[in-house]
Amino acid sequence: MLDVDKIRQDFPMIQHHSDLIYFDNAATSLKPQCVIDAVLDFYTNHTSNVHRGDYEIAAVNDRLYDGTRNSIAKLIHCDPKEVVYTHNVTQSMNQIVFGLSKGYLKKGDTVLLSKAEHASNLLPWYNLQKELGIRIEYIPTDAEACIHMDAFRKALHPGVKAVSVAQVTNVLGSVQPIKEMTAAAHQCGALMIVDGAQSVPHMPVDVKNLDIDFLGFSAHKMCGPSGVGILYGKYDLLVQMEPVFTGGDMNARFKSDGSVLYKEAPVKFEAGTPNIEGIIGTGAAAEYLLSIGMENIRTYEKELRAYFCEKMRALDNIILYNPDNEYGPIDFNAKGVFAQDAAGYLASQNIAVRSGNHCAKILHEIIGTDQSIRASLYFYNTKEEVDRFVEAAKNITLENAVGIFF
Ligand code: ALA
Repeated sequence: MLDVDKIRQDFPMIQHHSDLIYFDNAATSLKPQCVIDAVLDFYTNHTSNVHRGDYEIAAVNDRLYDGTRNSIAKLIHCDPKEVVYTHNVTQSMNQIVFGLSKGYLKKGDTVLLSKAEHASNLLPWYNLQKELGIRIEYIPTDAEACIHMDAFRKALHPGVKAVSVAQVTNVLGSVQPIKEMTAAAHQCGALMIVDGAQSVPHMPVDVKNLDIDFLGFSAHKMCGPSGVGILYGKYDLLVQMEPVFTGGDMNARFKSDGSVLYKEAPVKFEAGTPNIEGIIGTGAAAEYLLSIGMENIRTYEKELRAYFCEKMRALDNIILYNPDNEYGPIDFNAKGVFAQDAAGYLASQNIAVRSGNHCAKILHEIIGTDQSIRASLYFYNTKEEVDRFVEAAKNITLENAVGIFF
């Protein structure tokens, strides 16, 4: 059970904007004081670079920086040396795709994706389609973008070398059956890659139990700072993988004849001075989420979402695109009102949502519209906020919404 009133006190943004309903959590989450403190402490009390300084403060930062790998490893159940720091899920996905293009994937190989993916799990693959001649095939889904195992098994064939999908999609919150998909993909000889941007912040994710090969996610959607991403990979795959970026820290030595010896994974993938304070803050965020309990977060959000959907279903002016999904954002339109105008009206009521295509620009091939409003919840949101939201949603009409811009 979550003590949401107590949790809300951890978030200065909630305390400072008591009237704001923040339902844009799929875009980024609010930050608890412990994360802010960790970042501030770095700037005010122990600034230095990492892996480069021979003095006490530098050693403190080395411990905090590398210590975040332990917290992330606890969060997703892996070995700390399988935790690579990137700058966001987009960089994680680009690293995976680049790595697989160097020796694993070749012309004519197939990669399976879904049409509900965010741009970061489509565009890197499109590059390989152009540059390497890989084939992209889309796994059929139902109307709420859920993948069903019978359709997935039919989509698999001997040419499939990789499958890459979001565990929870960023617009409809479709939860994919990752464990079953991974077993089937492996049986077919394909790697399983998972975009965890919308799952890791919201539910327990156990990479060992799922047996997935790679996972990417961003810290800023899980109470952490912006500019930090995580790439998980099975260690033997990380050992074989080429880094996208080369430069400082990731090399053990290099010579004037051009020969370079890389350090071992994960540091091999972390060229240049990293976002040290962000990574230390990410460690604080992971520990904070673990202290609340990922299962508690999942249960609470599932219940809150069900309550929200039930109320929205009852509104005559609202079209809901994903009422039957159990998790994630609620995606909808107000009849006859352009999505951005509707979001503007909600903003005038002090409600923050995202509108448009949400970076999922081929999802319209499933839901039939590329303009919708997305209300996305987190564990600090409440039923009272949902009630206020639904009252506002009732009043989204052409007359109320047009002409409000922010
Ligand atoms: N990827 C983030 C979203 O879905 C920004 O809104």
